[in-house]
Amino acid sequence: MEVLQVKQLNKVYKGKISHEALSDIDLTIQKGETVAVMGPSGSGKTTLLNVISTIDSPTLGEVKIDGQQPHLLEAEELAMFRRRKLGFVFQFFNLLNTLTVAENMALPLALDGVNPGEIMQRVEQMAGKLGISSILNNRTYEISGGQAQRTAVGRALIHRPSLLLADEPTGNLDSKAARDVMELLTRLNQEEGTTLMLVTHDAMAASYCDRVVFIKDGKLYNEINAGENRAVFYQNILDVLSLLGGHRHDFS
Ligand SMILES: Nc1ncnc2c1ncn2[C@@H]1O[C@H](COP(=O)(O)OP(=O)(O)O)[C@@H](O)[C@H]1O
Ligand SMILES: [Mg+2]
Repeated sequence: MEVLQVKQLNKVYKGKISHEALSDIDLTIQKGETVAVMGPSGSGKTTLLNVISTIDSPTLGEVKIDGQQPHLLEAEELAMFRRRKLGFVFQFFNLLNTLTVAENMALPLALDGVNPGEIMQRVEQMAGKLGISSILNNRTYEISGGQAQRTAVGRALIHRPSLLLADEPTGNLDSKAARDVMELLTRLNQEEGTTLMLVTHDAMAASYCDRVVFIKDGKLYNEINAGENRAVFYQNILDVLSLLGGHRHDFS
């Protein structure tokens, strides 16, 4: 079953000089898949993620999530759609620092009117899976970057979204914490039956996914699938990145 279908997507930023940031993008992601999107700076990764997450609208083409076209919904329905169907993980965690770890994770459920008893149970269960049970009552400034990203992953998944969208989720972590977060994301994706699309510069992070889609100048360039061996996949990703060109630091 397809969770995400992007068809003939175009995005033009209009201005004194119009700029076509995405051209004719077709992308389908099946339920349970984990897909990384990579490409040089300015290739359109953030634009693609923003259009899929409904932060921005397409100029042409369509986006379907669970068979629905969110861009056609009225504001109120769209807000509900985003709250129920989507989860987000960001580079800088975006946690509310006046709240505890538990309160941050509870937020999507509280906004959806779930009763406090069930919220507490779901938070404790999710914290167990993420290995952060012992810090549930800590404020976000009392925890490490890795713990903050685990909290953000918990918040993104607690309402069991269909599609989890992540923009550089490892971009602000050291390599050990980055691996831990990717292992968690891909394991929870399986356990919770969600689907993951992430944008990343980090070939190591991408190598945890089932598939990597490369874009260049707003167009699909190539895609490769994981095999049995992550080290081989990692090397294949690096090979495509070097063919893609751009500056080395764009990918570091
Ligand atoms: N709000 C905007 N207005 C005009 N141009 C934009 C805007 N956002 C991005 N762009 C341009 O669109 C292209 C793709 O940008 P972006 O999606 O941010 O790329 P990436 O995330 O791959 O670095 C770039 O050339 C960028 O300058
Ligand atoms: Mg970007």
